[in-house]
Amino acid sequence: MRNITIENLTDAVIKAMSDDIPARNREIMTSLLRHVHEFCKEVNLTYDEWTEGMEFLRRAGDISSDARNEFILIADIIGMEVLVDMIDKKPTHGETVPTVLGPFYRDNPPVLPKGASIIQKDFENQETLKVTGQIRDTAGNPVPGVTIDVWEDAPNGLYEQQDPDQPDYNLRGRFETDADGRYEFVCIRPVPYPIPYDGAAGELLNYMGHHPWRPGHIHFLIQKDGYKTLISQIYDSETEYLDNDSVFAVKEALIGQLKKAPAGSGSDLEMEFDFVIRSNEMLQAAE
Ligand code: BEZ
Ligand code: FE
Repeated sequence: MRNITIENLTDAVIKAMSDDIPARNREIMTSLLRHVHEFCKEVNLTYDEWTEGMEFLRRAGDISSDARNEFILIADIIGMEVLVDMIDKKPTHGETVPTVLGPFYRDNPPVLPKGASIIQKDFENQETLKVTGQIRDTAGNPVPGVTIDVWEDAPNGLYEQQDPDQPDYNLRGRFETDADGRYEFVCIRPVPYPIPYDGAAGELLNYMGHHPWRPGHIHFLIQKDGYKTLISQIYDSETEYLDNDSVFAVKEALIGQLKKAPAGSGSDLEMEFDFVIRSNEMLQAAE
């Protein structure tokens, strides 16, 4: 088409897509094109603002690496990761509510026995925390042999891969539930931390007038063959930023109560948190 106008451009771009692309490509691109074009028109985007945006994306690419995906951080700040998580991972049978994975997960953490500590380095201001609980299926039966990966930041607010002074895989562990579906490990009370704001994501936070902080939380990735993988985070009920998380990932159902542990129990604090996972059979029955 030669006579492109503001009015006919969107249809022209949609029509330019080939007939033989997969239907899902067409569905996604048609909607994306409509929304992007509508956005430009709605805000009367100037050419300078568009150029600034393109430069912003270039800087996001420049700072990204195998160890850092700036685009995920950007998606987090605009609530997109949590939105996709809520759409795609919606609990249907009373399973534990999921929330975002975030960028700090590492596969193959140290495999540890039930009750072990994930602390490889002590911090002066740390409070140790024993976490216990049971994993059940949606019918209430304990699920043995579930693999649970846990990870958290240190009392300096850094995950181990962000901090050259922490041992490799510090504050990470892989556990398995026992015959009664129970798990147990010792960690450190998680503290609030800022998501990385030294790159394009930080620029966007400034642009939006928002802060980078997340409330203190412990990450869980819970897996067993035949069950839907559960990715979630448990929040300390007393942490800051529960009501203004920079990535909007907090859910009331994921707030845990940390209590003072009895003297001689081996940790300063304790928390019990049970999880419910859904079997694939249950999933198929629902479809
Ligand atoms: C996290 O919880 O580790 C996280 C989630 C989203 C962005 C940054 C960090
Ligand atoms: Fe985190």
